[in-house]
Amino acid sequence: EPRVFSGVQPTGNLHLGNYLGAIKQFVKLQDSFPCLYCVVDLHAITVPQNPVELENAIRDIAAAYLAAGIDPKKHIIFNQSRVRQHTELAWIFNCIARMGWLNRMTQFKEKAGKDREAASVGLFAYPSLMAADILLYRATHVPVGDDQKQHIELTRDIAQKFNNDYSDRIAELGVGVEMKVGDETVNGFFPLTEPLIGGEAPRIMSLRDGTKKMSKSDPSDLSRIALKDDADTIAKKIRKAKTDTEPLPDTVEALAGRPEAENLVSIYAALSGTTRSRVIEEFAGKQFSVFKPALADLAVEQIAPITAEMRRYSSDPGHIDAILRDGGERASEIAEKNMVHVRDIMGLLNR
Ligand code: TYM
Repeated sequence: EPRVFSGVQPTGNLHLGNYLGAIKQFVKLQDSFPCLYCVVDLHAITVPQNPVELENAIRDIAAAYLAAGIDPKKHIIFNQSRVRQHTELAWIFNCIARMGWLNRMTQFKEKAGKDREAASVGLFAYPSLMAADILLYRATHVPVGDDQKQHIELTRDIAQKFNNDYSDRIAELGVGVEMKVGDETVNGFFPLTEPLIGGEAPRIMSLRDGTKKMSKSDPSDLSRIALKDDADTIAKKIRKAKTDTEPLPDTVEALAGRPEAENLVSIYAALSGTTRSRVIEEFAGKQFSVFKPALADLAVEQIAPITAEMRRYSSDPGHIDAILRDGGERASEIAEKNMVHVRDIMGLLNR
């Protein structure tokens, strides 16, 4: 059965990359699949967090989900730490995943920086927890930006090893489902989850450097458009965005080697829900002095209503807490049903 799961870390500065690469897809998918959208607070604490700021950041992400249009009645919005089974399954996955697999994760290398010895164990084990988030609900599809692709591949590796290591037991208990692995049909407990990588905007780049991705942690505020920016700030950041001096070309291919131009065209395409080639058709031969104001208008038009809704939700934290509590209860039910099977499969006596 298809099911969608995804998550965003509550670490401040939610930006256009998060929206176009992830949240916008979340909203679209809710018409076709049952969805769980999580605020992954336990991932946030893999690096130090101020407790008061963390509480507010959790509510902020929930507010963004709601403001973007996710329906918390039809789907599940919750914060990860409320559902204890995430950490339980993460531990189990720590015992399935191999050190070598986690050692290859590029996000760990980037986040740990030079001094690996000083990184938390949690930061290293981060991908096991992410695999647990997804597989706890036996989710089949995960909408994410391009930077999370490696983590989804690891999630598949963990699922496959678990299915394989316990195949006899899964068959004996009759809790598996048939699935295709290559051209073989196997009986497994966990699905091999597919990433859904964000349309025309899988990787939004920094406005200051078209070779770096737009990120929450970039020290330059001008590098990203935050979902909380007001109209003037959005317009200013786009006006100041780095570009080359050539006009826009007349083919998408000719954007190659012009990372900043390519990025702005991708943002335009993603915001307006078209393709890059349509944008190029419209703006071929135009200077950035023409393209940038058009992009700024479009960005303000798309983002301002979400910002306004986020503010409205944020003014009533009690309401957000109630939504997260209700979502947490509904998520727990699915989680516990699956964990009973996992404990049985592994021989962790729970009858
Ligand atoms: P996080 O919080 O860093 O980012 C949230 C989502 O935004 C996407 N994203 C981008 N997309 C396009 N361009 C960008 N510049 C850009 N920057 C960020 C991310 O790919 C992500 O989809 N590990 C995850 C959180 C997580 C998760 C999960 C996701 C934890 N458990 C289970 C899916 C399923 C993360 O750090 O996302």
